[in-house]
Amino acid sequence: MSTPFRICLLPGDGIGPEVTEAAVRVLEAAGGRFGFTAAFSRHAMGGAALRAGAPPFPEDTKQAALAAQAVLLGAVGAPEFDANPPERKPETGLLALRKALGCFANLRPMLRLPGAVGPLREEVVAGADFLVVRELTGGIYFGQPRGFAPGRSAAENTLRYSVVEIERVARVAFGLARGRRRRLTSVDKANVLESSQLWRQTVTRLAAEYPEVELRHMYVDNCAMQLVLNPRQFDVIVTGNLFGDILSDEAGALAGSLGLLPSASVGGAVDLYEPVHGSAPDLAGKDRANPVGAILSAAMMLRHTFRQEPAAAAIEAAVRRTLEAGTRTADLGGSAGTRAVTDAIIAGL
Ligand code: NAD
Ligand code: IPM
Ligand code: MN
Repeated sequence: MSTPFRICLLPGDGIGPEVTEAAVRVLEAAGGRFGFTAAFSRHAMGGAALRAGAPPFPEDTKQAALAAQAVLLGAVGAPEFDANPPERKPETGLLALRKALGCFANLRPMLRLPGAVGPLREEVVAGADFLVVRELTGGIYFGQPRGFAPGRSAAENTLRYSVVEIERVARVAFGLARGRRRRLTSVDKANVLESSQLWRQTVTRLAAEYPEVELRHMYVDNCAMQLVLNPRQFDVIVTGNLFGDILSDEAGALAGSLGLLPSASVGGAVDLYEPVHGSAPDLAGKDRANPVGAILSAAMMLRHTFRQEPAAAAIEAAVRRTLEAGTRTADLGGSAGTRAVTDAIIAGL
C-alpha cells in the first residue's frame, strides 16, 4: 500500500460535521476500491472552535492545515455568533483559513445532473454545465480600510483589486477554459466600479495569450439574469470574490439544490475543498442534509490534489446513478436521509 494521503478535516458547524463524515466514508470506500489510503486529522474551526474557548481559526488548526496535503471543510456559522464582533465570528475564521492557505482561485462547477429534480423548468436547465472561477483571497472581503465608525453611525468596506491579483485568477480561468469548451465570460461591474475597469482591462490584455479561448465581458446584474434565462450559454465564468459568492448560490438553484455543489480552492500552499453551501442550521443533526456537495468536493480533491482520476470519476458516476435511481434528500424532493444517500453512493462505487 502506498503512503496515506494526509487530509485535514475541518467539520465546523451545523450540517458541516454530517456532510464531512459522509465525504470521509466515500473517500475510504474509494480508497479500498482504487488502492489508496487516507490519514485524516480533525480540527476545530468556526463556531465549534469558539465554543471551546478558542478563536474561530485556532493556531493549531492553522498548523495542521498547512502540514496537510489537502483540507476538507464542512461549513461554518451559527445564529448564536451572528452578532459577535468580527474576531469572534465563525466566518472570519473561514476567511483567515483561505488567506493562510493562499488559495486564490475557487473553482465551483455547476453541472445539471439528470437525476437532480429541482425547482426550475427542465427545458431551461437541462444540459447546463459551467464552472465559476471565483477570486477568493481579495476584493471587498479583505480590502482595508474596513469596519464601523465610532458609535456605529456608519460602516465601510473597501473593494480593491491589484493587477497581480486579477492576472493570477484570470490565468487559472483561461487555462481551465482551454480544457473545456473554450468560452470564458468575465463578470464585473465596470460601468460603475474602477476596480472592475481594472479587472476588465487586465483580463482583456491576457486574452492575447490565449487565442484559442473566446473571451466576453458581462455585467454582473445581467449575468444574474442570463444564468436563469439561458444557463447553457456559459462555459467558464471568472469573477471577483463577492460576485462569485452570489452567482454560485444562484448556480445551486440551477443545479437543483445548493446542497449539490462542490468546490476546490487552488493556487496556494495547500488545496482547500468545501461544499458551496453553508451550515444550514435548520437541518443540522436531523440526517436531512444533502451530502453530495461534500462528496463531490472529495472527488475534486482526489482529482486535483491526489491525481486519482479513476477514483474521482467513479465517485461522480456513483452520485449520478444514485440521484437517477431516486435516492435523494428532501431538498431534491426525495425522502432519503444523509446516511442513506451516502450508503447508496458507496454501494454504487
Ligand atoms: P446555507 O447554505 O447554510 O443555507 C441556505 C439554504 O440552503 C437553506 O434553506 C438550507 O437549508 C439549504 N441548504 C444548504 N445546504 C444544504 C444541504 N447540504 N442540503 C440541503 N439543503 C441545504 O446558507 P445561509 O442559511 O445563508 O447561512 C447559514 C450559515 O452558514 C451562516 O452562518 C453563514 O454564514 C454560513 N455559511 C457558511 C458557508 C461555509 O462555511 N462555506 C457558506 C455559506 C454560508
Ligand atoms: C461561501 C460562504 C462564505 C463566503 C462565508 C461563510 C464567509 O458564503 O463559501 O460561499 O462568503 O465566502
Ligand atoms: Mn456563499
